[in-house]
Amino acid sequence: MLHRPGEQEPSRHDGSGSFLTPAGGGELRVGMVGHGFMGAVHSLAWRSAPVAFGLAVPVALVALAGRDPAATAAAARRFGWSEPETDWRRLVERDDLDVVDICTPGDSHAEIALEALRAGKHVLCEKPLANSVAEAEAMAAAAASASALGVRSMVGFNYRRVPAVALARDLVAAGRLGRVRHVRACYLQDWLVDPDFPLTWRLQRDRAGSGALGDLGAHVVDLVGFVTGEELVGVSALAETFVGERPLPEPAGAARGLGGRGGAGRGPVDVDDAVVALGRLARGGLVTLEATRMAPGRKNALRFEVNGSEGSVSFDFESMNELWVHEVGSAHAGVGGFTRVLVTEPDHPYLEGWWPPGHGLGYDHSFANQARDFVEAVRSGQDPSPSFADGLAVQRVLDAVEASAAAGAAWTSCVVGGLAGEPATRLEEGS
Ligand SMILES: NC(=O)c1ccc[n+]([C@@H]2O[C@H](COP(=O)([O-])OP(=O)(O)OC[C@H]3O[C@@H](n4cnc5c(N)ncnc54)[C@H](O)[C@@H]3O)[C@@H](O)[C@H]2O)c1
Repeated sequence: MLHRPGEQEPSRHDGSGSFLTPAGGGELRVGMVGHGFMGAVHSLAWRSAPVAFGLAVPVALVALAGRDPAATAAAARRFGWSEPETDWRRLVERDDLDVVDICTPGDSHAEIALEALRAGKHVLCEKPLANSVAEAEAMAAAAASASALGVRSMVGFNYRRVPAVALARDLVAAGRLGRVRHVRACYLQDWLVDPDFPLTWRLQRDRAGSGALGDLGAHVVDLVGFVTGEELVGVSALAETFVGERPLPEPAGAARGLGGRGGAGRGPVDVDDAVVALGRLARGGLVTLEATRMAPGRKNALRFEVNGSEGSVSFDFESMNELWVHEVGSAHAGVGGFTRVLVTEPDHPYLEGWWPPGHGLGYDHSFANQARDFVEAVRSGQDPSPSFADGLAVQRVLDAVEASAAAGAAWTSCVVGGLAGEPATRLEEGS
């Protein structure tokens, strides 16, 4: 419940679900860690969500943490944050913040999130939730304990918030596709095709956990679960590193986002460039998954097609305002096939906040939609989705993919207590 001026202010830890603290004045006060690619996009989102959706509570961009004082101060000015901080630990301890938004590489997610939850801050954490199942388990456990005290947490699988993706899920959930039989899902990029692209943190196992798998595959795995409403129960996978050595970044640690410059020294790549996997859904559907940063010409081709007993949907992020839909028996004579739905109508998911029909959305809008859902969950005292438990479930699938690839594509369970090496139980249609 929202606290109104004049009412007695609840404690952060009274389990009431309110985020307000005495100094907050009714604002949701955000602190963010990291000011690279995601730092920029999240900054935009925190500012545009209240404009687009007229949120019931104002959002204040209070403090931005980075490591380099000059770069952090410059980013804070440019992105619209009131103050820079050069130590995320100080940021997390500040008593004038309600939310910590984690936009750093995966090697620091667990540490920052655990400290922030301990300090009673709501947490939005970029994907993948962590670099290992053990870290993700600790985070999910801490999030569950914090939730009992009214502290919320969410993992940033932003593609769920693309309107066409949310519409695909709504169609599946409404039964319009019938029983899901096939999912074909891939995430294709090409920025590693150049063998002289430098060895940035995304190519280092100790920083990123894995390569294309955790970077891109995490989104694909999340979307398979989100769109179908079903869990992946097992996988058989292959992984490949096509370029085994790359130039070291120059200057060291300067690379941001998907860019960077290489110097004279070289180092080994210890993550995958690409993964492919077969999978099985809980109700028996068959899944193919692919993630690569080595597909020339594919820039951000996050694609999926779902085939059910009653119809299909097909999505490609490079045409993100469109969803292709086919319903069995709906075709008119001679002009059957998929129908292109322009997902920009006011009654489509999230579109109530945006522009008139046909005035399409872009990448950053998915983050604004994510910020809207996070703020609304905190305001109303609900746990947002995807939760840290959802992030842990994705992590288990990523772990199973790696284990399967290491074992020559052996069938590997993604489910706790599942039997490795044995295809998951298949449910007959109609059962
Ligand atoms: N949701 C998406 O579509 C999407 C897209 C890209 C990246 N990501 C995720 O976002 C996260 C960040 O990726 P990015 O592309 O913004 O990276 P980036 O390299 O552009 O920026 C990382 C930022 O974190 C800072 N940083 C690194 N370690 C730190 C530490 N220990 N303490 C404080 N600051 C630290 C860096 O200085 C930099 O400001 C990753 O988890 C990545 O997987 C998500």
